[in-house]
Order: sequence, then C-alpha cells, then structure tokens
Amino acid sequence: MPASLRSNSKQMKHTRNNRIKGTALMVCLGFTACLGGETVPLDSLDLTFVRQGYGKATAGRCVTGAPIVLGGKTFHQGIGSHANSTMWIDLDGNARRFLATVGVDDNCNGPGSVIFRVVADDRELWQSGVLRPGDPPKPVDVALDGVRQLLLETADAGDGISHDHSDWAEARIEMKQGKPRTIPAPGDERVILTPKPGPTPRICGPSIHGAHPGHPFLYRIPCQGLRPIEFSAEGLPSSLKLDASTGIITGTTPPAGTYKITLHAKNPHGTSSRVFRLAAGDTLALTPPMGWNHWYVHYDRITDTLMRQAADVMVSTGMADVGYQYVNIDDCWMNAPSHKDPMRVGPLRDESGRMLSNKHFPDMKGLADHIHAKGLKAGLYTSPGRFTCAGFAGSYGHEEQDAALFSEWGFDFLKYDWCSYSNIAEKGDPTAPQVPNWSKGGDRLPAMKYPYQVMGDALRKQPRDILLNHCQYGMGNVWEWGAVVGGHCWRTAGDLGFELDRIADVAVTNASHRAWNGPGSWNDPDYIQIGYIGNARGMGEPEPCPLSPNEQYAYMSLWSLSAAPLFFSGDMGNLDEFTLNILCNAEVIEINQDALGQCGAVVPLTAKTFLMIKDLEDGGKAVGFFNRGDQSATMTAPASVIGLSGRSRVRDVWRHKDLLGIEGSATAQVPPRGVVVLRLTKDG
Ligand code: GAL
Repeated sequence: MPASLRSNSKQMKHTRNNRIKGTALMVCLGFTACLGGETVPLDSLDLTFVRQGYGKATAGRCVTGAPIVLGGKTFHQGIGSHANSTMWIDLDGNARRFLATVGVDDNCNGPGSVIFRVVADDRELWQSGVLRPGDPPKPVDVALDGVRQLLLETADAGDGISHDHSDWAEARIEMKQGKPRTIPAPGDERVILTPKPGPTPRICGPSIHGAHPGHPFLYRIPCQGLRPIEFSAEGLPSSLKLDASTGIITGTTPPAGTYKITLHAKNPHGTSSRVFRLAAGDTLALTPPMGWNHWYVHYDRITDTLMRQAADVMVSTGMADVGYQYVNIDDCWMNAPSHKDPMRVGPLRDESGRMLSNKHFPDMKGLADHIHAKGLKAGLYTSPGRFTCAGFAGSYGHEEQDAALFSEWGFDFLKYDWCSYSNIAEKGDPTAPQVPNWSKGGDRLPAMKYPYQVMGDALRKQPRDILLNHCQYGMGNVWEWGAVVGGHCWRTAGDLGFELDRIADVAVTNASHRAWNGPGSWNDPDYIQIGYIGNARGMGEPEPCPLSPNEQYAYMSLWSLSAAPLFFSGDMGNLDEFTLNILCNAEVIEINQDALGQCGAVVPLTAKTFLMIKDLEDGGKAVGFFNRGDQSATMTAPASVIGLSGRSRVRDVWRHKDLLGIEGSATAQVPPRGVVVLRLTKDG
C-alpha cells in the first residue's frame, strides 16, 4: 500500500477511535466536576513561545489588537495570531479535548488565506482547509486522550503570509487533571554550537585593509585569547606604530602601495601569526564593514552615554576581537524642530551654518575620541534632504560644510538616508535649479544619484577616510551605481524588520545583485537584529528577538555568505552568551571578511531548501545549506554545483569541527528553519 494511503487509513482508524472515546466522554462531560478536570482557555496561557510570521500572539484580540471578528461575529476570548505560526503545548497525557472556532479575521484588510492545523504527537488530528476573511468560522473539536504534545499551527495557503491574521477564537483545552503549558518548539533550545575561544591567541579579522595615503590610520588587530597579549608586527611601514599591549596600530597611512605586514600575537599559552596586507590607495572598505548601529534598539532614545557604552562593550565582550569595529550613531543625534523629548529640540544649525548636535550629545568630538581610544571607529547619520526620517536636521544645502564638520569631529562612517530628499527629487528646488529632479517626468536616475555624488565628493575631500553608506532602500538599482557616486555600501531594500520569513527573502534578493558586490562596494541587506531589539515599526523598547535559535544561526550565516556589511543592531547593554555566540564565531566572520569579497550564489534545491555557495580566496568554497521548512531536511550539494573537483577537506564552521573529507557532493542534515555551513578546502 502506498505510504500516503497507509497513513490515511491509520488516520481514519484513529479518528474513529477518537469519536468513540469522544462519545463516551460526552456522557461524562456533563459531570466535569466528577471527573475533576478543568477547562483552560488558551488565552490564559503564556504566549511568549508562540512563533509567528508577523506581530505577536495576542490574548483576547486579533493580532492587530482589534477585537476578534470571524464571519461577522465578535469573539471575546481566544488568540489572535498570524501565519505562519506555531504554538506548542505540553499536555502530558492529561487532556480530553481541544475546542475552538477558527478563521481569518474579518478585519485583516486584504486577501488573507490560512490553513489551520491541529497536530498531536506528530499526527495531524484536524485541518481547516483554506479559510479566507468573511468565510464562516470553522468549529474545531478534537479528542486529545493520551496526547503529550499538542501543536496548533497556521500556515499561509500558498500565496504568502500577507494579511494572514489567523484567530483561534474561544480556544480551550478540557483537562482531566493538571494544566496545559506552552513550551518552546522542539529543537528551539538556545544551543550554543561554537566552542568558546581558548586562552591561546588567535588573530582574526580581514587579511587585507584599504586606507588612503596621508590620512590618519587606525586599526585594532582583532585577536581572541587570554589578555595580556603581546603584539608585534614585521614589515610595518615607518609611518605607523603598534601598541604592543593593545594591538592598536596608529599613525599616517603610507604612500600608495600594498604593504605585506606579518602580525604576531603572543601570551603564555601560545602564539598566532597572520599576514595582513595594507593596501594604501583610493579604495576603502576592501572587506565588508563590521560594527554596531544603534537604530533597532534605541531609536530616538539614543544618547552619548549609550554610544560610549556600546564602544566599551564591543571591546569587553570580545566583539572587537573578531573584527567588529564601527560604532555608529543612527538618526536623532541632531536637533529637530519638534520632538517629544525637549532635549532633542533646538536650532538645527548655528549662525555660521554648522549643524548642531542635541543636548544628549554634548561633545561629538569627545565621543569620537572615546571610540578611537579603544581602537574602534565612529559613525554617524544624516539625510541628503532637509530632514531625516525621524524629522531631525538633514544636510541639504550644507553638504560640504557637514562633511568637513564630521571629519573635524573625527567620524569615519556616514549613513546618508534619503528620507525627505523625495520632496526635492520629486518637486525640485526653485532656489537651486541645478539640482536635478523629476518634476517634469523623464529619467529619474540623475536625481537619485545626485545627492549621493555631492556627499561622496565632499567626503573624498576630507583629510580622513570616511565610508559612505547610501541608505535609499535600493531605488534605481543603486547597486549598479552606488560605488561610482562615492559609496562603499548601500541598502538594497527597505527596513528589514524581524519577521521570520522576510529575512531569507531579503537575503536571497540581495544576493541576486551579487555581480556588483566586491571589495570597496557592498550590497547591504540591513542590520543583524538579534539579542534584545525594539520593534522597528513602533520604535519600541528592546525585547528578546523573536527569531528561533535556528533562524538566528541562519540569519548570521546568510549575511556572512553574502559578504554583507555586518552591523549588529541589538542592545549592547544586554548581550547574553547565546547572542554573542551567534555574533562572534571567528570562522563564520572569516567567510564574511574573505578578501575575494564575493557574495555567495543562491542555488534553490526544493521549495523550502536552498544552498548559498561562496568562493574563497584560498580556492575553497563556503557552502550554506538553508532549510526554511519546519521539518529537518537532508540536503545534498552536488559536486557540479559546488564546483570543486577532487578531494576536499570539510569543516563545520558553526561547530568548529573537521568532518570527514569528501570527493564530489556534500550532504548535511539541516535542522528546521536552520542552517549548516561547511567550509570546503581542496585537499592537496
Ligand atoms: C530609515 C532607515 C533606518 C533608520 C531610520 C532612521 O529610513 O532605513 O535604517 O536609519 O530611517 O530614521
């Protein structure tokens, strides 16, 4: 008998059994008191473990916070969720029935479509078929005798998750005894895969670094291992000096040329050496910039104190030891004409036109100095428009002056965020007719490029290296011209948010522009939002990242294999061991920082699985096996797809473990919604 029929007949038998038992119970149900159980409304349980594609599971309300309305009827109890969602409930064999009324909320404002499933100990007990807003709600009534774990699941019905506001109205569990308890999804334990760095020094970070001749030079050698570590360098140009105890190299970038420097780190446990090429020339950011940006955690609450704390933590947690370097302020450090916080309100510029920082940032130069003293670099933010997205001072009409000011303060990175520049691009500026605009139609590209070219030119005139990040969400295929107008990296999409399924979609689309990714020019799919982060839409207070542990491994792996700028944007004041383990795996970062600078190619295998394959400078390959499904998957990367002939050594980079060598294809067992990353090196 084919497997599908076999399982159907098994299920029918099971359903019949349920019905019989259900009937027997019906007799008893009128006497609940005699049975000693209680009926527990689902919305009285802890909903923090519910995972869903958008928003948060909400007790007594639909996911938007409005009342639950199904087929025109309002329900006062239940859970408002959003596909794709899973809610795991431990019953320990003590439950009788699950009852609910399910449907897609009438007020989901669009063409949602959802399938509801009730799964008990890996057996599907019930499923709704496709439900849409306005459909009559469907009753669910299933027997749960003996069931240990119940899974309530909603899935999109094949058209994406938009508008899939799925309600489990009046959902309740009849217990024989005890209480149901929500639990994390199996396999969702926060397992730390990577062994802690040992005491022996290990020099990390890029093997090449670009800097402009004659400009101030600053580089902190990223190095793990027990401090104190004694650093030394062979072949260091005479214009540079190395602090032997901190590993910070300062001085003036030597004349154009490539300098081969051998870095050494030593402590009583051992030594580490690494060849480091200093490429003095016009190209900066030869490997993807790495650091921290405040936006997704502090929003308009950012202060000088928080920025200094971030720099301190970058060093004390070991993040700087694997290569995190830039400490970047985002929006809201300047003044705004109006804001709820009076400390952020004031004149935008002084009488000479100098942009003013707000009262939370009393000393911008002092802040940059603090960051530099740790061997790190400082970044800030503004807009080519008159105002930033959050309504703070923009640079329009003051570009040269602002570039000079940022340089004078000592900043090393500028995020330049389009925002209100739309007004100028769309309508033009009557007082500046030379500024291109599309008010009369025609090609929009000149108006898109113009503000970035202006700032790119202004920054290049400064006597220091300042990276320019075009933040304009991918308009006009920015990857095709971002570097030409002076950028070093550019966002390829809007704000990422932290919705589960979006991250992989954004990364895959970002990788489709890989032809334009490379040393000095990086496609930027936005920041790493893990640990404690705020809600991007509400600018909320930081909360634990809703991504499952497997998804967090996949997220970091996607950015690494994409050679994407690596900016963490969670709370530096609340970093746990798991988050640091995701952020600070030296071998994962080495793939990101590989000098070839290639963004991996995406190779779809099935609807739910894909590979990402990245060429490495040593002739090897990094292969990411990504599984977007909810079941673990055995995935094979065929030899022809990997593109390595002969025998290869294989290393699992998350686990820092050498595996058996392969000849040809590579296979990995990939956890649900997770990843395995293998580094393949030609053997011999
Ligand atoms: C958005 C940008 C975010 C953040 C924010 C600040 O346009 O994409 O990354 O910078 O503005 O207001």
